[in-house]
Amino acid sequence: MENNFPKLFIPGPTHVSKEILEEFCTSQIGHRTPEISELIGFITHGIKEILYTKNTIFLISHAATGLWEMGTKNSSEKGVLHCVNGAFSSKWALSSDKCGLNVGLIDYEWGRGVKVEDVDKYLSTGNYDVFAMVHNETSTGVMSNLEEISELLKSKYPDIIWLVDAVSSMAGVKINVDELGIDFLLSSTQKAWGLPAGFSVCSVSDRMIEKSKKIQNKGYFLDIEVYNKYIKKLQTPTTPSIPHMFGLKKVIEVIKDEGLNNRWNRHIEMAEFTRSWAFNHGQELFPEQNNESLTLTCIKNIKKMGCK
Ligand SMILES: Cc1ncc(COP(=O)(O)O)c(C=O)c1O
Repeated sequence: MENNFPKLFIPGPTHVSKEILEEFCTSQIGHRTPEISELIGFITHGIKEILYTKNTIFLISHAATGLWEMGTKNSSEKGVLHCVNGAFSSKWALSSDKCGLNVGLIDYEWGRGVKVEDVDKYLSTGNYDVFAMVHNETSTGVMSNLEEISELLKSKYPDIIWLVDAVSSMAGVKINVDELGIDFLLSSTQKAWGLPAGFSVCSVSDRMIEKSKKIQNKGYFLDIEVYNKYIKKLQTPTTPSIPHMFGLKKVIEVIKDEGLNNRWNRHIEMAEFTRSWAFNHGQELFPEQNNESLTLTCIKNIKKMGCK
């Protein structure tokens, strides 16, 4: 019972520690000042280290759902292939459809991970210039294998722009953005980042920024070109949630103190602990084998357990 509030054990929003919450009370600073640029510089540098990337980092003052649209609207001229294996991947495909994009679906039974052979089959049609998937399907506890997809895209489809939703894995699981070649990786802050909701981050590759320049009718608010112009000055296009930025700075310091490898290993150990608990209580896991998430555990609840 830190702060006299109960500790949250839900997939998100997750528990926010007292030391992080206190940062939200820091006095406001102007969003066109050297101070904010220093803050944004620290944060974007820290996120680059956490994501192992030289790509550009945008800081966004709204939920990750908006980044689904930023990703697809700024990259697709031909069509977006979506893998749907749970509630969030399904909603992302819906959002692309509502944006008027050509959408293709690989539809999986819930609990299954994205299969590289299916992605190959659909991309080989030549109908798509963008591939979108959710790394960690929060609704089913399924984590898909990014390495396999990366090998496929590098070897057979190097021109495809790759968008990855990592809302419930970023900052909890190692994602080596540059080695994998992910063009657009997105997350909001209310899960493994351990911050309140309402703020998001994404990494954007140079070729995605170039592609965005060719695209018409992408609006203003989510235009990557506009974000890119401002981030070069270490600013944001609109007035940002400055309290989130103070909180994020502190989280990055906490992550650095822990050490990246220690952080990734801690999440693996916690996942193994939770799964063992389930098995020891006669339960089974919901995700198929080898696709179990490292940040959240979905249990099938096949054995009724008494509540005490
Ligand atoms: C995998 C995944 N994607 C997207 C979202 C939507 O995030 P937000 O509520 O920040 O828009 C969530 C929220 O839980 C999620 O788990």
